Amino acid sequence: MISSVRVIGNPRAAAREAPPPDALASDGFEAAYREISGWPGYRPTPIHNLKGLAAELGLGKILYKDEGPRFGLGSFKPLGGAYAVARVLARELAKRGIAVNATAADLLAGRHAEAVRGITITSATDGNHGRSVAWGARMFGCRAVIFIHQTVSEGRKAAIERYGAEVIRVPGGYDDSVRHAFAEAERRGWHVVQDTATADYRTVPADISHGYGVIAGEVVAQVSEPPTHVLVQAGVGGAASAVCARFWQLWGTSRPAFLVLEPAKAACVAASLAAGKRVEVTGDLETVMAGLSCGVVSELAWEVLATGADGAVVIDDGLALEGMRRLAFPLPGDPPIVGGECSGGAVGALIGLSREPSLMAQIGFGKSSSVLLIGTEGATDPVIYKEIVGKAPEEILA
Ligand SMILES: Cc1ncc(COP(=O)(O)O)c(C=O)c1O
Repeated sequence: MISSVRVIGNPRAAAREAPPPDALASDGFEAAYREISGWPGYRPTPIHNLKGLAAELGLGKILYKDEGPRFGLGSFKPLGGAYAVARVLARELAKRGIAVNATAADLLAGRHAEAVRGITITSATDGNHGRSVAWGARMFGCRAVIFIHQTVSEGRKAAIERYGAEVIRVPGGYDDSVRHAFAEAERRGWHVVQDTATADYRTVPADISHGYGVIAGEVVAQVSEPPTHVLVQAGVGGAASAVCARFWQLWGTSRPAFLVLEPAKAACVAASLAAGKRVEVTGDLETVMAGLSCGVVSELAWEVLATGADGAVVIDDGLALEGMRRLAFPLPGDPPIVGGECSGGAVGALIGLSREPSLMAQIGFGKSSSVLLIGTEGATDPVIYKEIVGKAPEEILA
């Protein structure tokens, strides 16, 4: 498997002094934090300081925010998908004249249980998002129907079904399953919880990104000073735009340089940064980093990343696998960490960059850099995890 890395700069990156864009406003992030921090089982995810890895790669510091333990779901995704379920239910209850502003706490207490039971949420997913929507639907008491495409693994399908959702496999790739979810919702009066914004579908993707902003809010409270760089994986860009916007709002001019991480086969943000406008990448988008197999960046995410991203790092799958193994079998001084393919990608990107002095210089990586990585998933498919790493997640942590 190929293990190469590329860096794409953003000639339109905003100056440090520039104000954050209007898309994804502070009050949306604050409302999401208030709600999500009240859910049962909420606790900030840990940040690990990978000293051994930083020394080996020639960096000052590597901080790894581990989203694997998030709500016991294996990835950061419940922050967005489940939060959006609560928001959709609240809006629907208001529209039906049942409750003006139902909070997650109202829904959790079963205050409008009968009406909520009759509401169906639908979504398309390559795994993690669907699991978080199904989890949210079960927690708040509504029905969920989740569409998956041909190559979503049986393990990821079963993980969604575990939360009581009906899971339907449809022909084609991820984008086909999204079209399917919208068409079925239109026909049956269901509500779509999808993270890709278009001109007439912005409210739910904004809810999802506001939920993801909890990651950035936690980081600001957990670190003593802003890192110099942050690298965030992008599929449709929901997570990356949320972290970018929130750091911009909370840290202003001292915010880190913001890098988007993408697989070479689905580098739609990188292509858009190079073109100066949203462009779709086509062809075979499948990568081991399943959550990143997206051909086009969400409109809302693009409104932030077009100037908020300082560049993109694009990697081949081989580096993601190398990164997973490095997390599992760490250098002396670092803890063993269970990170899935997308998390391995973040570590693999740094490993790949460290082998290319000219790219290290281009990004400004060196001994005085502190780099924040978001480990966006744990072993979201334990069978695949064991095939790649050679040991089960429990054995790594034993
Ligand atoms: C583990 C993981 N990391 C990153 C992403 C990318 O998130 P987004 O699609 O919001 O860019 C996903 C999306 O599914 C994911 O599952």
